[in-house]
Amino acid sequence: MKRETMAIHAGYESEPTTKAVAVPIYQTAAYEFESADHGAALFNLETPGFRYSRISNPTVAVLERRVAALEGGVDALCVASGQAALNYAALNVAGMGQNIVSVPQLYGTTYTLFAHILPGQGIEVRFAESDSPQEIERIIDENTRAVFCESIGNPAGNICDIEAIAAVAHRRGVPLIVDNTVASPILLRPMEYGADIVVHSLTKFMGGHGTTLGGAVVDSGKFPWRDHADKFPTFCTPDASYHGLVYVDHFGDAAFIARCRAVQQRNTGAVLSPLSAFLLLQGIETVALRVERHVENARTVAKFLRAHPNVESVNYAGFADNPYHALAKKYLGGAGSSLLTFEVRGGFEAAKHFYDRLALIKRLVNMGDAKSLACHPASTTHRQMPIEQQVKAGITPGMIRISVGVEHIEDIVGDLDQALAAASAIISHAAE
Ligand SMILES: Cc1ncc(COP(=O)(O)O)c(C=O)c1O
Repeated sequence: MKRETMAIHAGYESEPTTKAVAVPIYQTAAYEFESADHGAALFNLETPGFRYSRISNPTVAVLERRVAALEGGVDALCVASGQAALNYAALNVAGMGQNIVSVPQLYGTTYTLFAHILPGQGIEVRFAESDSPQEIERIIDENTRAVFCESIGNPAGNICDIEAIAAVAHRRGVPLIVDNTVASPILLRPMEYGADIVVHSLTKFMGGHGTTLGGAVVDSGKFPWRDHADKFPTFCTPDASYHGLVYVDHFGDAAFIARCRAVQQRNTGAVLSPLSAFLLLQGIETVALRVERHVENARTVAKFLRAHPNVESVNYAGFADNPYHALAKKYLGGAGSSLLTFEVRGGFEAAKHFYDRLALIKRLVNMGDAKSLACHPASTTHRQMPIEQQVKAGITPGMIRISVGVEHIEDIVGDLDQALAAASAIISHAAE
């Protein structure tokens, strides 16, 4: 099945989802049992079905199947936000005294989670000097439980060599977790290159309209937990919190996601509401169409900015001279994503004036919306990061990030042009 079709149909084809989705015509927190034995069988995970919406929900289940189908995974867990998905994925592999090795180019709140929040729970996150597989391998040790990267870094725009990074992780007996939010499975499917777990902020391209928060953890089903049982006893030995269940025995390939649901979501409850799932499902039906237009518009915007006299530089992997172009060719068919950054000539002040003059493009900190959006990472998404870490993450003080939307390209370019002209006039006037 092609991705366009999966985005519309996956999830409805098999039991019990079809029935469960067709039957409820109201919103409910819990589901009636046919009998005490039926209830017991559901609790024992002997029969498929729904008990309580903090564990699973029929509408959310369709979304889970659809996201899993798009990424090529065996199963998925959809949660309240991308951050919840990242937190759950990390907590599901690592515990007190263990570490996760990450690339340095990260979304700002992921950096905060890794640098400040997980260490409070005894999990160290080690940041490699760069996204090179050698730098990553250098800091893996016997306590490492996963390697983490964003397939396309937000906002750095770096493209990770997933195949090479997965090879490093696997050589050291740990899974590779990839945040595929910026690429979306329409541009890239990390599992086809060896990623074991994929995480998404569904709030972005998947939902696509900037209306609804959501996140997903997708399990490739390929990581051999049993072969590394010494490192991952939580999957391979009886779980006292779930009456002695052994996840790899009971769930086979889908052990990671089953534990994520039974341990992380069931006990800490970052649940996606069914209404949000419904809205995200509507978005996903058009994700393939939108991403095609996003990418086409972004290419034109990148070319326009590069030729503009008031623009210092443009970071767009679709350009042949971009350091990540070879990886863009390998992983994205040569295109850059529709998230790009540039420097307005005149530095911080000029960038600020440009930003204030935007009329069509919205000043807000989201991306992957049908609408074009702009943000200034140094003062917003990445402001908690120390300056030297900002530099490693690819952020500069005068950088503007644009998420190029699906509007008519002449309107997008026209807005950029007038804002650049206005910023340049203000700067020249001040210099007189
Ligand atoms: C790459 C990436 N991952 C995760 C997140 C967090 O997602 P959410 O805002 O849905 O929690 C974001 C948000 O911008 C992001 O850009």
